[in-house]
Amino acid sequence: MTSSTSAKVTVPGLLKDEPVAEGKGSKAKGFVFDFTDKCVVVTGGNRGIGYEFSRAAAKAGARVAIIYRSSKDAHEKAENISKEFGVKVKAYQCDVSDSEKVNSTMEFIDEDIGPITGLIANAGVAVVKPALELTAEDFHKQFNVNVLGVFNSARAAANLWIDTKQGGSIVITSSMSSRIYNQAGPGKPLTQVFYNSSKGAVSNLVKGLAAEWAQYKIRVNALSPGYVNTDQTRHMEPEIREWQAQSTILGRFAEPEEMTGQAVLLLSDYGSYMTGGEYFVDGGKLAW
Ligand SMILES: NC(=O)c1ccc[n+]([C@@H]2O[C@H](COP(=O)([O-])OP(=O)(O)OC[C@H]3O[C@@H](n4cnc5c(N)ncnc54)[C@H](OP(=O)(O)O)[C@@H]3O)[C@@H](O)[C@H]2O)c1
Repeated sequence: MTSSTSAKVTVPGLLKDEPVAEGKGSKAKGFVFDFTDKCVVVTGGNRGIGYEFSRAAAKAGARVAIIYRSSKDAHEKAENISKEFGVKVKAYQCDVSDSEKVNSTMEFIDEDIGPITGLIANAGVAVVKPALELTAEDFHKQFNVNVLGVFNSARAAANLWIDTKQGGSIVITSSMSSRIYNQAGPGKPLTQVFYNSSKGAVSNLVKGLAAEWAQYKIRVNALSPGYVNTDQTRHMEPEIREWQAQSTILGRFAEPEEMTGQAVLLLSDYGSYMTGGEYFVDGGKLAW
């Protein structure tokens, strides 16, 4: 084996791997994301996909602010990540649908552990119910978090960056549901029209925000997961989960940490030419 082929390669599960080793005689040190001068806010960063986003940003060296709604263990989760990677990680309670509270929380974070350089607007909720039974309350529950909450978070960050002329990167967790109508089985709808339409809305929001804020050096992109093992999907019937898993090219659900590579790339300077885009991390589901 030559020295160039013996270099280790990072693979999914990357958060648990050792850094890439230097090849013999090579100056390569692997592909490094250095966030040591960054501060990243992750809404819904205390569990599920968001928790792994928080870990990934911390692993890259960033200070991390986790925004949560009501989970009792958010501060403990932040502390755990802080200990794991030796960086400042703190949790801040804030309902993202409350625009005033989001503005004040973002300003507080900026002073507390900032300056904020990146945002992952990830908090989201899903209601699975047949369309004929949906209520206005169900609509507001979904859209107030998945669309208005994302907008509130993005605008609060943008306002900080416009003031300081620093710019920044915003990653919005949308979903492959922005493009498709999910199925519970062959020809069987999953019944979540408000969830899917909220994700369609937020994927389009990304384009407008990217277009309006490029002048302030702000990039805005969507990361759209496929099926991921989290609290949002765990409660579903095993037959539905099995069918959904088999409907992807990879034949399985993702683990939350498999979403992190794309998010870190979009937050980093390596993503400097990426804005207004939607990036699907879906195990090939949308290919079929
Ligand atoms: N799981 C999937 O298969 C999948 C697929 C595609 C897209 N997504 C999207 O990925 C994102 C994360 O999903 P997940 O499965 O990781 O979700 P999850 O495990 O259900 O966690 C949801 C997170 O959002 C927070 N949150 C909810 N409402 C909030 C509010 N009003 N204000 C502040 N925080 C709020 C929760 O905080 P508390 O813990 O305090 O309640 C929690 O941290 C969502 O946008 C979801 O739609 C998920």
